[in-house]
Amino acid sequence: MNRLTRRRFLQGCLGAAAVAALPGAAFAENSEALPPLRQMALRAGIEYGAAVGSPHLKQDPAFAAAVARECGVIVGEYETKWSFIRARRDEWNFSGTDALWDFAGRHDQSLRGHTLIWHNALPNWVKDDLNAATAQQLMEAHINTVVTRYLDAIATWDVVNEAIYPSDHLENGYRQSPWLVMGADYIEKAFRLAHAANDNATLIYNDYGVEFDARKADKILSLLRRLKDSDTPIHGVGLQCHSGNGEKLDLRGLNRFCRGVADMGLELQITELDIKDTRLPDDETERDMLVAERTRAVLETIFAVQKPTQLLTWGLSDQYTWLLDKKMNPSGRPVRPLPLDRTMRRKPMWLAIHDVLRQAA
Ligand code: XIL
Repeated sequence: MNRLTRRRFLQGCLGAAAVAALPGAAFAENSEALPPLRQMALRAGIEYGAAVGSPHLKQDPAFAAAVARECGVIVGEYETKWSFIRARRDEWNFSGTDALWDFAGRHDQSLRGHTLIWHNALPNWVKDDLNAATAQQLMEAHINTVVTRYLDAIATWDVVNEAIYPSDHLENGYRQSPWLVMGADYIEKAFRLAHAANDNATLIYNDYGVEFDARKADKILSLLRRLKDSDTPIHGVGLQCHSGNGEKLDLRGLNRFCRGVADMGLELQITELDIKDTRLPDDETERDMLVAERTRAVLETIFAVQKPTQLLTWGLSDQYTWLLDKKMNPSGRPVRPLPLDRTMRRKPMWLAIHDVLRQAA
């Protein structure tokens, strides 16, 4: 029996879960014969992809090959944020997003835009300049310039990111964002500007925590309803799904949120899935299984209500994850939050995503 047939035989009789329980090397060896995630996603009528850093694509051929193989869509981890594009008042730096556009073009991938208006990744000069008199002009110039430049490259934008944060105790659960100087309707204005710049683009409101925090989920739903009621050009909501580190999942709340989104006729996107595992056991095989199970639980809950139009992980390989940053992981413990390990081998999390996509086809 040749290797491929043996593998298929093993896969068939052991089943995905059993294969996923195999130790890393054996698991990877048995999963490599399966079609890539981008292909499974396409069969399900959606796009799978990942956030990538353009330098990693340039410097690491194995990583670039894995991104090309597995991803049908990519998004810049930071290249399309203000901090990269607008580092200085009189400068526009599109080199990072252009590099991603080039890579996506060479690998038949779509490119996602993240993000136009956010309280984070704002250069100091913007924070200095931003006030009630300047905000509209700053927002308009940025959105017009960036969205127009990528008219033929970026068809989906995270227009506003993380605007809801009930712990700031503002009306409607708004976050104390620098953009609030424009008034609470800064969100609607951002969507209208993005639509005016590209009326073909899919415009998304992106946020995190709906799988843990029912209060925050309700505030996001109310925001979406207000935007819809004011005929704001919004097409969907992005659930970041940073779903790890042992926080108690509220899958009923997640189901309720997804039903609310569907009732409004909005599309759902999963935009930044990863499973921070620093509170899980050290044993890698056990940890990988728990990460895979949590991935499956979140995805199956969402897919049961509405198939997302895009499913992205926030990174593809454990080699390049923001969760290695000291501020995100002060202990410096190795993390395994993504579908591929540090050597680009497929992990149980990869198989969990593969399985959900297979069932959705
Ligand atoms: C993160 C990047 O991955 C980090 O490299 C950067 O230091 C901080 O921002 N939610 C988001 C993303 O919408 O833009 C954030 O990306 C992760 C949380």
